[in-house]
Amino acid sequence: GEYQIGYNIKPLDPKTVSSVVLYGTSKFELVNVAKGQSLIYNQLYPFEGLQNYTSGIIHHVRLTGLEPSTLYYYRCGDPSLHAMSDIYYFRTMPISGPQSYPGRIAIVGDLGLTYNTTTTISHMTSNEPDLVLLLGDVTYANLYLTNGTGSNCYSCSFPQTPIHETYQPRWDYWGRFMQNLVSRVPIMVVEGNHEIEKQAGDKTFVAYSSRFAFPSEESGSPSTFYYSFNAGGIHFIMLGAYINYEKPGEQYKWLERDLANVDRSVTPWLVATWHPPWYSSYKAHYREAECMRVEVEDLLYSYGVDIVFNGHVHAYERSNRVYNYKLDPCGPVYITIGDGGNREKMSIPFADEPGHCPDPSTTPDPYMGGFCATNFTFGPAAGKFCWDRQPDYSAFRESSFGYGIFEVKNETWALWTWYRNQDSYKKVGDQIYIVRQPDICPVRQRMYSDCVASF
Ligand SMILES: [Fe+2]
Repeated sequence: GEYQIGYNIKPLDPKTVSSVVLYGTSKFELVNVAKGQSLIYNQLYPFEGLQNYTSGIIHHVRLTGLEPSTLYYYRCGDPSLHAMSDIYYFRTMPISGPQSYPGRIAIVGDLGLTYNTTTTISHMTSNEPDLVLLLGDVTYANLYLTNGTGSNCYSCSFPQTPIHETYQPRWDYWGRFMQNLVSRVPIMVVEGNHEIEKQAGDKTFVAYSSRFAFPSEESGSPSTFYYSFNAGGIHFIMLGAYINYEKPGEQYKWLERDLANVDRSVTPWLVATWHPPWYSSYKAHYREAECMRVEVEDLLYSYGVDIVFNGHVHAYERSNRVYNYKLDPCGPVYITIGDGGNREKMSIPFADEPGHCPDPSTTPDPYMGGFCATNFTFGPAAGKFCWDRQPDYSAFRESSFGYGIFEVKNETWALWTWYRNQDSYKKVGDQIYIVRQPDICPVRQRMYSDCVASF
């Protein structure tokens, strides 16, 4: 069923239709059957004048026992109602191992649904990714009123409103737009601030949690807001920046467990992602996630995380290897790739440009908790809140819409390419081999405590 929006809506009953996927390795024999669950969600406003929303029926079906590096055909729907989709196909990730990697992983943040988004996605699709990572800020539905018109700064226009409106059909439009790509390419998503969508009863992340699926159970995570997975010889860790990340909270403890269980002889590459960057030199969101950095950076560094991908800042930036604001050959490379399309325009000024260093008190995000960003106490920017030139940690930065392609070649070499939307498909905006050096940056060995406990 379709979504409804208006003053008199009638939620659909998800029990009226079953969730079935027929699949197999031959297009003509979809011999396997998987059943799942369906749900709906509502956005109801506790006062007059705003239109309420109820979603169409959303289906989640988990396929298990799939073979690696295998093409599967599938269709979904309810066979008893003769309501089945067309036949689609997807290819599973390769088996995990030091010589086994997906070909191309597309990485993008802050997509939205604008003319820039359509260019990003068509450019990305032409590069035939095997996996897509979306680093939060998915649809920007919370920048639209319930009548569908946009409002770039909602809190400026409506400072007194008790509930921030959203226009939930944007999620439906976005899903339709993305179907061509994500019906055949796996996508993994981590939440951004635009997914919070706080509503009546203090409910948050409702659309995000209802519409996407996360391998939390498979990665031992108690929450859908942080999880991990392997794609060939890469272990990806997806962290939640808008829920508690402090030690000894649940997320921090899970991260410790997850890192301790990574076997670098099987997944040599360790990549972490979350939405707001720690090492960005743009004025927008400058040092906004500093409390998270203070809390979590040591742990990621101690386990030798190779690369961190973030979004949030609507521009592109690649760092040198860095740890605690000092260049460090064993620190991660940080890549901000929040230039997918959004609807709030590009981030252009740098914090180190005259007149663009923000006042420290304006930098915290209320959803990230606390205030941690103070003047630097060491280095070329000591005594100041911003550098007076491009920071040493910043290797390349440019405000153009685009996305990146991550290609791991072997256990020590990976090629990272940033593409600008305005360029041809083949022309690169920034490209670098990221090289792991386990000889000078030894990785921690996996702890085998589970296996030896009984001896
Ligand atoms: Fe964001």
